[in-house]
Amino acid sequence: MPRTAPIKAVRGVRDILPEERALWRVAERAAARVAHRFGYREIQTPVIEHAELIERVGEDTDAVAKELYRFEDRGGRQLALRPEATAGVVRAYFEGGLNQGPQPARLYLIGPMFRYDRPQKGRYRQFFQFNVEAIGVGSPAVDVEVIELARTWLIEVGLDKLALELNTIGDDQCRPAYLELLRAYYRPLKDKLHPDCQRRLEVNPLRLLDCKVPQCQPFKSRAPKITDHLCEPCATAWAVVRKLLDAAGIDYHLNPYLVRGLDYYTRTVFEFYPAGASGQQDALASGGRYDGLAAAEGWPSTPGVGFAGGLDRVTELMASEGEEVVPEPAAEVIVLPDGDLVAEAAEIARVIRVVRSAAVDYEPRSLRAKMRAADKVYARWAVLFNADDAQRRVAQLRDMRTGEQSEVLWSALPELLA
Ligand code: HAM
Repeated sequence: MPRTAPIKAVRGVRDILPEERALWRVAERAAARVAHRFGYREIQTPVIEHAELIERVGEDTDAVAKELYRFEDRGGRQLALRPEATAGVVRAYFEGGLNQGPQPARLYLIGPMFRYDRPQKGRYRQFFQFNVEAIGVGSPAVDVEVIELARTWLIEVGLDKLALELNTIGDDQCRPAYLELLRAYYRPLKDKLHPDCQRRLEVNPLRLLDCKVPQCQPFKSRAPKITDHLCEPCATAWAVVRKLLDAAGIDYHLNPYLVRGLDYYTRTVFEFYPAGASGQQDALASGGRYDGLAAAEGWPSTPGVGFAGGLDRVTELMASEGEEVVPEPAAEVIVLPDGDLVAEAAEIARVIRVVRSAAVDYEPRSLRAKMRAADKVYARWAVLFNADDAQRRVAQLRDMRTGEQSEVLWSALPELLA
């Protein structure tokens, strides 16, 4: 039969192999631990949503306009793979009645997101986020709570050289007038801007501020700043956020050009970078307040704030900083039958699994070869036996670290290994 070429993984997505998963688990466990420490409970939402849910809240954003995995299912529904979790978590908050419970609903979610972006290091088409949302309370104290949560998580996984970029982008009271000022400032410069920015000028002028293209840079410093044009409530909230960050001893850099890539933000926006880095694809965690999102989804107007940390980037940085993960054995005990003793080996493993993880080496090869393999998987003990031993229901229990070995009854194994 002719051999066909093996089918490889889809472009921009990747496998996370068991060796790497050990490091990922460190990051995920720290995320869950820190979230619980701050009083957040886990939620899972589907990776598919109605495309309209995603599109309604982010029409002008790249993640939605250009990068959405959008498809029609067999029933003719227009669906999307979620590009981010916030829209779905807000939907679940209302659909699941969490809006009727204590406020804010403090929720976290760890899971995959999908964006059809150009793949490169730190940017994937399927990537994983640690997502944190506090929904139902407008107090700027909660903005600072989620910033502190993000920071605590990053520090706990060993990434303590951090830069926090902070800004406010006002709300629907003050932002429209500010956007007009921004347009008025940029219109005479339109011909000097690159094509994307020329388009943004009318559609989403805030994005002019975080453009990274060199030809657009000279105009930024004289552009009007939103912080000079905040309405009273936004100005008060902005002052409280900074005061509380100061009180918490959290350093930040005020960045008037930080506007974020999704449309739904109001007031506080922030991004954590590794110290010394910048540029969109280096952000380790980012988020902000989204007081208009619930209403944009068609629910009663409800404030919310949150962030998402990128697990791909965080684990990559952990690895490059030399984060040591002790190799975990696939199984603590490996059962090595000498000869064709499948049922007996399975029985021994079954007895051991009451107290320890155990696996059987079923390969028809020499005991020596099996011992070498056991070493490679970091097994802590080996249980060796041959047909004679099986007759007497005994085995040799070997400590793989010390090399000590003794004959034991199968029935004694749980107690000896406990
Ligand atoms: P975002 O800035 O689009 O925000 O993504 C959050 C984080 O996800 C980024 O800082 C980055 O670490 C990671 N990330 C984003 N895109 C990719 C990618 N293609 N490959 C690898 N990592 C990526 C949000 O998603 C908002 N929902 C955050 C939020 C929650 N705001 C309020 N609540």
